[in-house]
Amino acid sequence: MTQINENYLKLKAGYLFPEIGRRVKAYSEANPNQRIIRLGIGDVTLPLAPTIVNAMVDAAKEMGTSSGFHGYGPEQGYSSLLQKIIEHDYTKRGVTLSEDEVFVSDGSKCDCGNIQEIFSLDSKIAVVDPVYPVYVDTNVMAGRTGEVKESGHYANIVYMPATEANSFEPDFPKEKADIIYLCYPNNPTGMVASKARLTEWVNFAKKTGSIILYDSAYEAFIQDPAIPKSIYEIPGAKEVAMEFRSFSKTAGFTGTRCAYLVIPKELKGKTSKGEEVSFNSLWSRRHTTKFNGVSYITQKGAEAVFSPQGQIEIKEQIAYYMENARLIREGLSASGYSVFGGQNAPYIWLKTPRNLKSWEFFDELLNKAQIVGTPGSGFGPAGEGYFRLSAFGKREDVISAIERIQKM
Ligand code: MLT
Repeated sequence: MTQINENYLKLKAGYLFPEIGRRVKAYSEANPNQRIIRLGIGDVTLPLAPTIVNAMVDAAKEMGTSSGFHGYGPEQGYSSLLQKIIEHDYTKRGVTLSEDEVFVSDGSKCDCGNIQEIFSLDSKIAVVDPVYPVYVDTNVMAGRTGEVKESGHYANIVYMPATEANSFEPDFPKEKADIIYLCYPNNPTGMVASKARLTEWVNFAKKTGSIILYDSAYEAFIQDPAIPKSIYEIPGAKEVAMEFRSFSKTAGFTGTRCAYLVIPKELKGKTSKGEEVSFNSLWSRRHTTKFNGVSYITQKGAEAVFSPQGQIEIKEQIAYYMENARLIREGLSASGYSVFGGQNAPYIWLKTPRNLKSWEFFDELLNKAQIVGTPGSGFGPAGEGYFRLSAFGKREDVISAIERIQKM
């Protein structure tokens, strides 16, 4: 028989969200008359904005003509989309980028998971605890970690706890880490990084020779104008950071699939012999070899996000979700819960009542109030005793959920 990649056996049973899905399915099969409110996975619920839909319909029609048909596109993305991304998301914020520093893809989850391929298997990663599980699990699969320990941490990963004690602002890694994963606005805690703090991170990475993998998939939810949306707003960040961005939450593309990864040419790694190599060229080689580009129709939809009308429409959607976040925050606080996040991010992080374990609270909420959330421990050991609610639900569901929780 063919031998398997045994690193997969180190992984905890299932990926967090399918595991939640299994439990919810079992509950709803046993209780078919109960209406379940889903505030677990951060999946958007508003329909695609009309300007985006129209652009995609037009693109589909174009594809049905011989002059407008598109086969394989450029793997890195159509120039028209790359230009709009750069102009809107970077030039306007004082950041200069060239088209070949931006790689359009089918999602930040894939990018965050795939990026580890271009680093040495010996490189050590540092993650915040709690953390988006993709960063950890993909490094486990690749063999960059040891077994999971009793604490729930994997051997050979540096963890940076984000707890109430440090206001969910992790300290720098205590040991040397080659790759530091940061996510702001944070999934799951909903925290943001100030300009001063991000500057410290960039300086830290420069000093230690580490690379920051900066996931800013939720930047569109930042309400405070003083908070940076991009790590490149910090001088010198191009030499130490890659940035992951997504249309999923910003423009309702969770089912449509479009994202991008920025790798500035200044960002360099080294070979075992000490020669410098640009990560941009490695990723370009990987992307063009393993990926054939996002569909023309989807990229045209993404381009429409940047049109003046597209901007108006997606900002309304973001305001809708942020109003949900406010309702959840205030509703839970009024019921005596300790809540965090939800002000510059679509996630509310709450302390479980009566010191319940995260999964115990998950079961209680499902059984007593038919509400699905995400157990904090699913994001790492430091998430134990916490729980995440997503603000991406429909307004009526959010209102009912708060009423149900208040009655519990
Ligand atoms: C989440 O709920 O954490 C996100 O939806 C996960 C993702 O974007 O992949």
